[in-house]
Amino acid sequence: MSMNEFLENRKSIRDFKSKDLSDSDLKQVESVISDINKLSKEYSVEYKLYNDGSKVYNALEGQGGYEGTMIKANHYIAMQVNEKSEEAFIFGAYYLESMITKLDKFKIGSCWVTISKASEESKKSAFDGNFNVDFLLAIGYAPNELGFGKKRFSSRIGVEDFVCDGSLSVPMDIDKLQNYGLDELFSYLRFAPSTKNEQPWRFVLNDDNFDLYIEQYKGVDNLIDAGIVMYYYKELSSYNNIDVNWFVKDNISDTDKFKYIASVNF
Ligand SMILES: Cc1cc2nc3c(=O)[nH]c(=O)nc-3n(C[C@H](O)[C@H](O)[C@H](O)COP(=O)(O)O)c2cc1C
Repeated sequence: MSMNEFLENRKSIRDFKSKDLSDSDLKQVESVISDINKLSKEYSVEYKLYNDGSKVYNALEGQGGYEGTMIKANHYIAMQVNEKSEEAFIFGAYYLESMITKLDKFKIGSCWVTISKASEESKKSAFDGNFNVDFLLAIGYAPNELGFGKKRFSSRIGVEDFVCDGSLSVPMDIDKLQNYGLDELFSYLRFAPSTKNEQPWRFVLNDDNFDLYIEQYKGVDNLIDAGIVMYYYKELSSYNNIDVNWFVKDNISDTDKFKYIASVNF
């Protein structure tokens, strides 16, 4: 399956089968985690698999998830940020989303869970004393499709709602984007997941780059949203044989409404 198709079909799984992952699937998960830990180390981020799902769930119920609604799973992958920085959250998300695409190949479903507002005590009891975890991935087998051809996808904004030309107040002309050969890429990018599906990313075309901003920045959850969209921008580009790199411009400052994250070539 191409990255385009993956993104179009990607959706969060929140009602897992109560069955544990098989031993061979657990081995695959462990090997994916250990490969990615080698990359994320640079940002002092480490992923850990917790197989006693009910222990994690019980410790965080009422505290983790949207409005304290924890997602129940038999296994969780915790994103442990050992030294907090904006970069650590952005790249921690980047790598965790890359993990999701790898788990999908083994038919393992997942859902991001924010626990950024849970107490230190509850995190300590969930993760053997570690409290530097703000985000989790609940993982497991998806239930069988309900039938009737029903797919429960979350809605998405239009390309013109998050891609701008020259400045944040000028929506991009889709014909122009088409001339650059980037209309498809942005159309798929809309399917990137985000906190509460708020899709807070804004891309501004400036000469040879796009500058990425977050609208109405509300905290670390939005840094995760940024890292995820950066990952998919890179993957979709490489699927089109374009090698892109994210970098930070030092002449851009934040405004009341927009937080600058990073820039990319195309
Ligand atoms: C950083 C982040 C945190 C999230 N936290 C939760 C959560 O706590 N509970 C939940 O049900 N979904 C959570 N989600 C899932 C999003 O709500 C979901 O990805 C988004 O609504 C898009 O829906 P889809 O994944 O089905 O396409 C989170 C997603 C992200 C990116």
